Amino acid sequence: MSNRGSFSSKIGFILAAAGSAVGLGNIWRFPYLAGTNGGAGFLIIYLICIFTLCFPVMIGEISIGRKAGSDAYGSYKKIGGGVWGYLGIYGILAGILILSYYNVVAGWAFGYFIEIVFGNLLDHNDFGAFFGSYVNDIGPIFLFSLGFMVMTAVIVSQGIAKGIEAANKIMMPGLYIILIGLIVYSLTLPNAMAGIDFYLVPKLSDINSKTLFYALCQAFFSLSLGMGCLITYGSYVTKDQNIVKSAAIISLADTSVAFLSGLMVFPLVFSLGAEPGQGPKLIFVILTQAFQYMGPVVGKIVGGSFFLLICFAALTSTISLLEVPAAFLVDQRKFPRKAVVWGLSGLIFVLGLPSMYSQGLVPLLNKLPIHNTPDFLSFVADLCDIMLISGGCLMCIFIRNNWKMNNMNEELAIGNAGYTGSILKSYITFTISWVCPILLGILSILVITDKYFGLEWLFGR
Ligand code: PHE
Repeated sequence: MSNRGSFSSKIGFILAAAGSAVGLGNIWRFPYLAGTNGGAGFLIIYLICIFTLCFPVMIGEISIGRKAGSDAYGSYKKIGGGVWGYLGIYGILAGILILSYYNVVAGWAFGYFIEIVFGNLLDHNDFGAFFGSYVNDIGPIFLFSLGFMVMTAVIVSQGIAKGIEAANKIMMPGLYIILIGLIVYSLTLPNAMAGIDFYLVPKLSDINSKTLFYALCQAFFSLSLGMGCLITYGSYVTKDQNIVKSAAIISLADTSVAFLSGLMVFPLVFSLGAEPGQGPKLIFVILTQAFQYMGPVVGKIVGGSFFLLICFAALTSTISLLEVPAAFLVDQRKFPRKAVVWGLSGLIFVLGLPSMYSQGLVPLLNKLPIHNTPDFLSFVADLCDIMLISGGCLMCIFIRNNWKMNNMNEELAIGNAGYTGSILKSYITFTISWVCPILLGILSILVITDKYFGLEWLFGR
């Protein structure tokens, strides 16, 4: 892997992977999914999924990448032979699809940053209505999404250490600081405790098959799992790095940002008398209202910094999403990196246009003639979620039946002297060989037959 590049330091990999994990998934998607799926019940299932399913899958992915030292396709093919390469392709396609709609939402956040700081967004009196018209104001949205894609491409075309690593080192700490500041603020508002109750006190009646499915998908999405992102990043990891420890730090960093986002959003929701289950517009509506209450000057400063940090968090994720197909074309086809990156970015931007136009501008895209599907963006997002959990399931089957557990464990013991003989080893071995493939497999089949074959056992009622 001599001229493929690698992370220049141990912390470089952890920051890059945590940067990939922390993104719109934590700050935008987690709160609204928790809001529509019972609050605390969702949070608990989410945490269980992280611990029992996602953490082992993450370790599996990084170890495949480091062992093979290639992109998602190349790594599966190198270890498992011909057919397994297609599992890598499946992940690469999922990454392309995710980036296509993710970039649109990132454009919304970028637009909010611009409108708060340079426009008069905070002077409005109905932020729900504002959001609805903003995402359909196609001129600015087009430009902001395009701008976002260009920033992503510029960083990825710089390669591993220079671009990806450097970008992450600056962005993560700022995000924590502003989140904690906003939590403190939201807890001082009247009726904040009702939000805490909703978010932290579980009611069993709120937990159902939908909660389970959305929490699992969200956990996979948030940790960037199931599509070869961590195989690709893992391929740039050096042999002295402790994979298990790195995975624990990455999972913890990501989960804490999601948790803190909920802790910031729900007290605000309840003290503003708003509805927690309002879907994708939740944070755009709630936070702008809170920033308005802070007064024109403070609101601009805090609101502007907040949306700027969301953009940074999103950027470190779009970087990782673009890196997956880019590494594939650079490694397998030997195309020059810059050409690959710009070509892919253009293609993915165009693929995202139907999502961009699906928020009301084009009626057919806004209400797809498919059961239970609100709009094209949600349709692609759901499809990607299913690709992630099924991809994770197949990865476990690959490790278990093809690469074999003891080979994976051997890889994990490199850079981790105490691993052999540890409880952690038994835990990872057990979860990857039994718990993950079985549970992820059953859920994937249930969801696919429910959503696309109309069996309606999960979402029917
Ligand atoms: N984990 C990112 C987020 O939470 C999204 C992502 C998914 C990035 C899959 C890479 C791969 O925003």
